[in-house]
Amino acid sequence: MSASIEIAGVSKVYDGGVRAVDTVAMDIRQGEFFSLLGPSGCGKTTTLRMIAGFETPSAGAIRVDGADITHVPAHKRDMGMVFQNYALFPHRTVAENVAFGLRMRGLDKTTIAAKVKAALAMVELSGLEDRRPAQLSGGQQQRVALARAIVIAPRVLLCDEPLGALDKKLRQQMQFELKQLQKKLGLTLVFVTHDQEEALAMSDRIAVMNGGRVEQVGTPTEIYDQPKTRFVADFIGDTNIFRGERVGPNLDVGKNLILALPATEAQGAAVLSVALRPEKIRLTLRADVAGAAGSSVHGMVENTNFLGGAVLYRVTLEGGHRVLVQQPNAGTTHLFVPGNGVTLEWTPADLVVLKD
Ligand SMILES: Nc1ncnc2c1ncn2[C@@H]1O[C@H](COP(=O)(O)OP(=O)(O)OP(=O)(O)O)[C@@H](O)[C@H]1O
Ligand SMILES: [Mg+2]
Repeated sequence: MSASIEIAGVSKVYDGGVRAVDTVAMDIRQGEFFSLLGPSGCGKTTTLRMIAGFETPSAGAIRVDGADITHVPAHKRDMGMVFQNYALFPHRTVAENVAFGLRMRGLDKTTIAAKVKAALAMVELSGLEDRRPAQLSGGQQQRVALARAIVIAPRVLLCDEPLGALDKKLRQQMQFELKQLQKKLGLTLVFVTHDQEEALAMSDRIAVMNGGRVEQVGTPTEIYDQPKTRFVADFIGDTNIFRGERVGPNLDVGKNLILALPATEAQGAAVLSVALRPEKIRLTLRADVAGAAGSSVHGMVENTNFLGGAVLYRVTLEGGHRVLVQQPNAGTTHLFVPGNGVTLEWTPADLVVLKD
């Protein structure tokens, strides 16, 4: 049976004074695919290791299904962990690697053999029982590490950048398989990654971390469409951020650019930042007629970046602001080229007001 995890005001200060995790609070639900996402050094691994019991919090508590486990040793927590480098035993066979946790628990040989067989079948490695890690591909080693973690039927599975070493294609395949396995087993899975696309693709919810703190917790769509802070807006995907002064229903961002604020943002701070995703902007060849007031401006295409399914344009507005615009690839006749004069339009409701 999988478990819920409550992280209540947890901090970790390492010897030497590094505050790696700073008053983190989050509730991970039973059966949830929950990702910790953030740049290198933001405290993801430290948080995961505290959940696993390999590090002790300097402050705060960790509860599993409501029970305080802050000081319960790792081997009594009933959690499986997949480390970034797999950490397989090089001189043992695949079967012996997978059997490790079961032997530690003192199960009998027949039971162990049956469980190992089932776990290897689950990750589609049947038949490779007698190989050693060096005789496997990176993706297969990754699956052995996964089998070793799930064979003990953990209440929680913890994965620290488990797909980091794989090439893109295999990585996508493993993302899909891991997600399927997690749903099939109903596992509570805490997944560490610094790859925003991976987190958006796989997670039920994501915690975005920065400098030891949690900036925002939300579903992939909430994190992408409603970033709460400048950091989240900037870290997740491409975005345009404008900072300016409120003038009535508008935001004056300087250089002759005045943006109509969403109607829902009629009140609030006098100085604020807003984010606008590149794909929310519509681009047309400039026609010499005035567009709709407030949400239409003119500029010139500076350069283009062909992404396959879409094209990313960098456009310089008449006043000098530079913005990114993404358009679906609708065929070569619709492509803009550097030097094209263009009109940019968007819906004011697509501007997201950020907390700084
Ligand atoms: N054992 C340790 N002793 C002292 N400082 C540490 C220790 N482990 C990590 N740190 C520091 O704590 C901070 C957070 O490290 P952590 O490994 O949790 O980051 P991370 O988000 O997992 O980064 P990455 O994406 O690079 O793996 C960093 O500044 C790191 O240097
Ligand atoms: Mg790490």
